[in-house]
Amino acid sequence: MKDELTFKSKNTIEANARISIPTYDTLFTMVQSYFRAKLGEKEASLLVIGAGGGNELAAWGPSNPKWTFTGVDPSKEMLQMAKNKSIQLGLESRVRLIQGTITDLPLPDSKFDAASCILVLHFIVDVQQKLKLLRTIKDNLKPGAPFILVSAYGDPGEAELQDRINVWKSFYLDAGYELSKVDEMGKVIMNISFIPEDHIERLLVESGFTNIARFYSTGLFAGWICHAG
Ligand SMILES: C[S@@+](CC[C@H](N)C(=O)[O-])C[C@H]1O[C@@H](n2cnc3c(N)ncnc32)[C@H](O)[C@@H]1O
Repeated sequence: MKDELTFKSKNTIEANARISIPTYDTLFTMVQSYFRAKLGEKEASLLVIGAGGGNELAAWGPSNPKWTFTGVDPSKEMLQMAKNKSIQLGLESRVRLIQGTITDLPLPDSKFDAASCILVLHFIVDVQQKLKLLRTIKDNLKPGAPFILVSAYGDPGEAELQDRINVWKSFYLDAGYELSKVDEMGKVIMNISFIPEDHIERLLVESGFTNIARFYSTGLFAGWICHAG
């Protein structure tokens, strides 16, 4: 990837997220409500895994002035987008961005009050690495802290997933993409690491999360809310 994302590619990333997930913006509103319900009006520190692009910061920062954010993402370019958004929105004093993975988190003074991991888990192919990420998030949370996980899900061997991929392709056709391009994207999407929903829930349990509930679903993606045990 180039050092600087071009204006066009930034816009493409933003636009594609909203085609892939027609309820993308609603997802962030829903998660904000979940966190508000759990955190109340107090000051709170949030850990944002996969903070690149800055959409969590933009969605939750301005309306929640008592929240501070630690964002982690290995992509320099995506993190730069997050930094730019935090500056545009006047959030810099409440945002810390770390280039790397969760293992690059410095030892915190105290654990976090809440965490999100939105649209990241399906990029981690190895199941043990998925588990390690979830365990480390849990270890960095205060007991009882809310956590939201959003990921692609499904069994690659099942027709059920193929049906959902066909609907996902249809989202792009309806947005005006050429059929040949969409067919190509349909092959590429199979490179992400789909695992069945019950497997994702087992990983959350194994990582020490409790009260696991599926509260969001759109097309290829679903979201689970839970608490650090
Ligand atoms: C599809 S984007 C989602 C960004 C943001 N969470 C959102 O929903 O708008 C996925 C992000 O996850 C990041 N990522 C990939 N592997 C990661 C990992 N192991 N830990 C943290 N972030 C990761 C990518 O660099 C990318 O910025």
